[in-house]
Amino acid sequence: MSIFTIPERKAWVLRTNHADYAIGVDESGALQHLYWGEPLNLLDEYPSTAGQHAWIWEPEEGNSREECMPWGKRSFAEPGLKVEFADRTRDLVLTFDGAGIEGDTLRIALKDVLKSLQVTVSYRIYDEFDVIERSVEVTNTGEGPVNIEQVMSAIWHLPVYPSYRITYLTGHWGAETQLRREMLQEGKKVIEARRGITGHNNNPFFAVDFGDTTEEYGLVYFGGLAFSGHWKIVAERTPYQTLQIAAGIHDFDFRWLLEAGETFVSPVSVGGFTTKGFGDASHKLHGYQQKHVLRNSGQLRKVLYNSWEATSFDVNEENQKQLAEKAARLGVERFVVDDGWFGKRNDDKAGLGDWYVNKTKFPNGLQPLIDDVTSLGMDFGIWVEPEMVNPDSDLYRQHPDWVYHFTDRPRTEGRNQLVLNLAREDVQAFVYNAVDELLSTHAISFIKWDMNRYFSEPGWPGAPDGRDREIWVRHVNALYDIWRRLQEKHPHVQFESCAGGGGRVDMGIMRFADQFWTSDNTDALDRLRIQWGYSHAYTAKSMVCWVTEPVNYMNGRRIPLKFRFHCAMMGTLGIGMNLNHLTEQDMVEAAGYIAQYKAIRPIVQEGLCYRLSPPEQSDLTLVQYVGRDGQEAVVFVFRHAQQFGHPALPVRLRGLEPFIPYRNEETGEVRSGQGWMSRGILLSLTGDYDSAMIRLVQVQD
Ligand code: DGJ
Repeated sequence: MSIFTIPERKAWVLRTNHADYAIGVDESGALQHLYWGEPLNLLDEYPSTAGQHAWIWEPEEGNSREECMPWGKRSFAEPGLKVEFADRTRDLVLTFDGAGIEGDTLRIALKDVLKSLQVTVSYRIYDEFDVIERSVEVTNTGEGPVNIEQVMSAIWHLPVYPSYRITYLTGHWGAETQLRREMLQEGKKVIEARRGITGHNNNPFFAVDFGDTTEEYGLVYFGGLAFSGHWKIVAERTPYQTLQIAAGIHDFDFRWLLEAGETFVSPVSVGGFTTKGFGDASHKLHGYQQKHVLRNSGQLRKVLYNSWEATSFDVNEENQKQLAEKAARLGVERFVVDDGWFGKRNDDKAGLGDWYVNKTKFPNGLQPLIDDVTSLGMDFGIWVEPEMVNPDSDLYRQHPDWVYHFTDRPRTEGRNQLVLNLAREDVQAFVYNAVDELLSTHAISFIKWDMNRYFSEPGWPGAPDGRDREIWVRHVNALYDIWRRLQEKHPHVQFESCAGGGGRVDMGIMRFADQFWTSDNTDALDRLRIQWGYSHAYTAKSMVCWVTEPVNYMNGRRIPLKFRFHCAMMGTLGIGMNLNHLTEQDMVEAAGYIAQYKAIRPIVQEGLCYRLSPPEQSDLTLVQYVGRDGQEAVVFVFRHAQQFGHPALPVRLRGLEPFIPYRNEETGEVRSGQGWMSRGILLSLTGDYDSAMIRLVQVQD
C-alpha cells in the first residue's frame, strides 16, 4: 500500500494491506511509537505523542515508547541503543533530524542533542504479508571514537493491554523448535543465544497475542531477527502494562568501536501483524520468506539422498556408487556425500581444515563418483564444515593461531574441534578459497555447510585495538560475505545451512541458504513436534526432512516406512537411510512415496500450511497444505498410538473454497470445500504409527 505523512504532524503511517504502523516525533523531538494494528480510517485517529501522566518516581521516560529507546536521561527499559563517547559520556538523547520516503522504505534520521552521533532508523514494508523490516544505522559524525555497547535492530511496542502471551521456540540439539506459549507477567522474558551461532536452544522468532488467540482467530504480533550469531529478544512487560519487544544483537560481551566517520549497520528485525490467528501469522511469514528472503525461492527443492546415517565417516567411492545407484532407482534427484571424504577424516577426531580429497577412500578423486551420479540423472552435492579445524590436521599444525583463543590459556574443544577466527582476513581468505577450489574443480551443485560446536574462549589475539569483542558480529558478517561471494561465482550451487541439525536456522542466513537441515533427530514421532514448531516461524520449503532407518538411532523406536515418509513429505524430502537395508518391496514402496511427493511438492513447499491438530494434544497430528490458488490441498494425518480401541476423530479441513467441489484423489469422493471443512473425513487409522495422506483436487467443469 503506502507510506504517508500525517498532515500537519511530524508523523508517518506505514500502511500494508491489512495493518497500519504509525510513528511520530514528540515535543522534545524524540521518535515515538503511535500505533500498530488494523488500518484506521481517519488521519486524526492516530494517537498523539503527548507524554503520559508522570509522578516524581515514575518519569515520562519510564512510559516512553521511543522507537529506538536510546539509553539516556531516565530511560530504564531495555535499551535499543547504548553508547560510550570518547570522553566517557554514557548518555544518549536522540532527536529528530529529518525523514525520507523512498518507495517502500521510510528512513528517519535522529541525532544526539549534543554529541556528533547520527542514528538512522529504517522501515521497509511488505504489503502483501503485513510485514515490516526494521534496522538501525549508527554513524559517528564526530572526531573521537564511540563505542556501541548495545544496539537493537528494533524495539517493537505493542498496544497496551491487560494481558499478553508470548509464543516462542526452544529446545536443544536433537529437539529443536519446540513450541512454547506462556503468559507474560511484569518483568522480562529473554530468549537468546550467547554461543556464537543462532543455536538449538532458542530460535530468533516471537509471536505475541493477548491470551485468547487460536490458530484461526485473534490478533497476533509476530516477528524475528535476521541474524545468525549472538542475539537476544527481550519481551519486557512494564508495571504500566506496556509491552516492548527488543530484538537485536546480544549486548553480552559485545562492543563495537566506531571510529570517526564509520557506520554500524544492524541486522534486520522483522515484525508483522494479523487479526486471523497463529495460522495466518505463519502464512504471512512463510509468504514473505518465500518471496523475499529464501535464496532461489522460486525453485522447487529437489529430493535428496544423504549418506550420513548410512555410511557415517566410512564413505568411499564404491559404497557411495552403490548407494547412488539405488537412490536413482527410487527417483532421488540429488546425491549428497556427507562427512568423511577429505583429509584424514576417519572419525570426528581429525581432518577438519584439510579440504583435499582422501585418496584412500577416493583413489581417483571425486570425479568418478560425480560422473556416476550425474550419469544416473542426479545432481552431486557434498558436505563441508569450513569454519572448523581439528587440532589433528595439517591446517592447525600450520596455523595454531587461527582459532578463537586467549593467549596462553587452554582451548576447549567441542567434538574434538576448534572454531576458526573468521574475524581475521587471512582466515576468511582460506575458507573462501578452500570451498571455491572445491567448487571450481568439480561439478558440484549443492553444498551442505555444517558447523558442529558452539564458541568458547572467544579471544582474538592481535585484534586491532578495541575490536576484540566484535568477533560475535564479525564472524557472522564474514560468513555471509563468504557465502555471497561463493554464490556470485558459482550461482548454480545451492546451499544448505546446518549446525549439528537446526543450530543455524534464521532469516539472516536464509538470504544465502536454499534450505536448512532441521534436526539430527530423524525419529518420525519426535519430528512431528520439531516440524510443528518449525512451521510457526519458517516455510516448509526450507525445512529438510529425511526418511531414515526403521529403528531410529536416537530413541530405538521402530516406525513403519509409510509413517516415516509421510512425516518427511511435509517439508523438503530427503532420504537418509542405508538403501542396502531395503528389500525389493521396500524399494518399490519408497519409490511410490517419492513419486507422490513430486506430485504434491508445489503444494507443500509453496502453499499455505494449516496446522489442524498438534502432536501433544491427542494421539493425532494433522497438518494440511493448500496451494496458494486454492485448487489443491494435501492433508497428512498421523496416528501415534491408538488406545482403548477408540476410532480416530474426524479430520476437518481448512482453507478450501467453500462452494467449489473437491475430489479426494484416493477414493474419488467429491464434496464441496465446505463439506470437507465442516463434516470432516473419517479415517480408519489403527494401532501405533499409522498414517495417511489425503489429496484433494478441485473438480473443473
Ligand atoms: C552434523 C549434521 O547435522 C549431520 O547431518 C552430519 O552432517 C554430521 N554433522 C557429520 O559430521
